Amino acid sequence: MDLKEKISLETFENKQFRIKLIEPENNQEAVLTHYLHNSKNGVSQFYKKGAVDFTKEILEYKYPEEKITTKVAEEALQYGIFDTFQVPFPPLENPKFKFIDLFAGIGGFRLALQNLGGKCVFTSEWDKEAKRTYKANFGETPFGDITKEETKKYIPDGFDLLCAGFPCQAFSIAGKRGGFEDTRGTLFFDVAEIIKRKQPKAVFLENVKGLRNHNGGKTLATILNVLRNDLGYFVPEPQIVNAKDFGVPQNRERIYIVGFHPNTGINEFTYPTPLDKKVTFADIKEKEVPATKYFLSTQYVQTLENHKARHESKGNGFGFQIIKDNEISNAVVCGGMGRERNLVLDHRITDFTPTTHIKGTVNREGIRKMTPREWARLQGFPDSYIIPVADASAYKQFGNSVAVPAIQATAKEILKLINIIK
Ligand SMILES: C[S@@+](CC[C@H](N)C(=O)[O-])C[C@H]1O[C@@H](n2cnc3c(N)ncnc32)[C@H](O)[C@@H]1O
Repeated sequence: MDLKEKISLETFENKQFRIKLIEPENNQEAVLTHYLHNSKNGVSQFYKKGAVDFTKEILEYKYPEEKITTKVAEEALQYGIFDTFQVPFPPLENPKFKFIDLFAGIGGFRLALQNLGGKCVFTSEWDKEAKRTYKANFGETPFGDITKEETKKYIPDGFDLLCAGFPCQAFSIAGKRGGFEDTRGTLFFDVAEIIKRKQPKAVFLENVKGLRNHNGGKTLATILNVLRNDLGYFVPEPQIVNAKDFGVPQNRERIYIVGFHPNTGINEFTYPTPLDKKVTFADIKEKEVPATKYFLSTQYVQTLENHKARHESKGNGFGFQIIKDNEISNAVVCGGMGRERNLVLDHRITDFTPTTHIKGTVNREGIRKMTPREWARLQGFPDSYIIPVADASAYKQFGNSVAVPAIQATAKEILKLINIIK
């Protein structure tokens, strides 16, 4: 058996391998990659047993003729048999702080926090396709359903910052400002529970702007009440932050909620000031775009226009917009608030895709969809970010993600206050 032969993480995507070893809702791959990513910071001990067990299974699968003992598996891990760091955004050598990435999606928070010198020590995301994108870029597989104790038990102690762009669901609250127990059954309850158990120095939550008025303002009031009064965190007034103020040509407003542990003694926080940098679609536009894939037929454009007119005549919005090069895009979304209201989107997902007007090209007026790479750029993801999934998944993932520069600017202010960075 050659322990020097590297095993790629892509092996796990091999169908046969999956059928044999990885059942759905199985955290083995997450445990192993979390172990490998934390080998230098003490957190790895936490994941060691699971990592050794899984390595043993992998080696037994790869070398059926050999006798694989626990010791062999341990040695294999020590020799660095897994090829997990050949990715665009590997962990930093000398990180300044630790954070966890909940509802991780494709790692918008992680990218921002790594840029500021952070080390992610736990991540959770249950969507299979989002996990694929995450793994391709960070070399780490997120854990699954965060509502399960089986997942929560893997969260290590001693991290500085908790990040969560949690989906907003309706709470049904009897009183005006509900408490911890009133949020049971919602994803915020799980976030609050993790804060309670782990007591991080700071928390950074992100949500849609509509959270402010959700359930007549009761949802936000409850969230703030739980953070401030039940958990004792200092939480300044939440802020609506627009991505366009932080260097990307996208009009995307999101609500940011930050909080500081009572022991930090912090009782003041200032959100970052908008940059004085104006960008337009031209700055992120792809030069070469395959005509057949992204340009629309005249007929299709007409259908979209008709839909839009019909929706607007009823006073409803319709998420499709034609923009010029010198304009900025509306928020890229995947169904937007519709998802929170549980409306099922039909197959015309492209209806929700902003399009841009390009002069003098195919399809008469040359109207085309934006490409996934353009959506990535609108969210501030660098071009080295790998998009390993089909377009439909990519639009969904970038639409669900965060504007990285706006997150980074806010996180920087948080970290400065808790004396982690200057
Ligand atoms: C609004 S998105 C957050 C995206 C993320 N901030 C990013 O940068 O890509 C919310 C994510 O939570 C995930 N999610 C929802 N419920 C979950 C659960 N119970 N456990 C783990 N992930 C969950 C969804 O699949 C979705 O990707």
